[in-house]
Amino acid sequence: MQHNYSYQSALTASDRIGWRVEDLIGGDKKLDFTKPFMPESLAQVKQLSFLTAQEQLTLNQIRGHEYLCMFGLVEEFILPYVVDHARPQLSGDDYRVRALLQFAGEEAKHIHLFKRFREEFEEGFGSKCDFIGPAQEVSRYVLSHSPLGVGIAILHIEWITLRHYIEGVRDNQDLDPQFKSLLKHHWLEESQHTKLDTLIVDEVVANTGAEQINQAFEDYADIGGFIDNGLKQQAELAVESFVRATSRDLSKSQRQELAAAVLKGMRWTYLGTGMTHPNFLATVEAIKPEARKQIEEMAPVFC
Ligand SMILES: [Fe+2]
Ligand SMILES: [Fe+2]
Repeated sequence: MQHNYSYQSALTASDRIGWRVEDLIGGDKKLDFTKPFMPESLAQVKQLSFLTAQEQLTLNQIRGHEYLCMFGLVEEFILPYVVDHARPQLSGDDYRVRALLQFAGEEAKHIHLFKRFREEFEEGFGSKCDFIGPAQEVSRYVLSHSPLGVGIAILHIEWITLRHYIEGVRDNQDLDPQFKSLLKHHWLEESQHTKLDTLIVDEVVANTGAEQINQAFEDYADIGGFIDNGLKQQAELAVESFVRATSRDLSKSQRQELAAAVLKGMRWTYLGTGMTHPNFLATVEAIKPEARKQIEEMAPVFC
């Protein structure tokens, strides 16, 4: 992709932003369970007309819990990937070294942030919410793919966090202020990660032959398929979490409808928003134009 990103400007922006986990959650900074956590564009619970408004709110918050878990999960593999990319060249370009280590440090902080919000959620929600995993196994599987394939998958993830915030959260006055603050502060740092990961992908591409580029897009598709399988399992877990939280006696068809709506919402949240993101697609096109076409052809299933 044509861009003017640089390690120096990303580092300068990151230095200006810096926030602490303790500033966002804990003490008197509590989640307000009378408010939704996720924008409806991602949660997609209102179409479930057999649920009361309170039940829709509960399901929205279950989706919020899943969002915390999902980013906790993906950042478990982003962190070692960035460290591994930085490690072979820790001298020479000072801005590069500092920007990459700061990127890694921010992802470690985000893992902590999402964990702290999960603790607060679990304390206040009143019943247990399940999530797929374990994160270490997911991380090991994802990182077993080629460096370029993983780099492209991570670039997809970085861009979706921006889209979630800009399109659904920034101008939304209904959301719980603490959850909104989490999404805002995550977005502030992810804005640099999109640029840094584009630079990483550029560097990896420069050392990759045509055959390995084909392999990288197969790996991206495989990682996407792996995540989608996880989402299908997660949709069933969400139904269980919902029934546990509400004691609602759902018919078989209502359970199916609920699981389908959650799956559709998750597919859009984690896959569709990336596969249709113009900047992500521009990077893909610069590497391999047919890969962009293939991703665009596959995208409607996840939108
Ligand atoms: Fe992050
Ligand atoms: Fe990130």
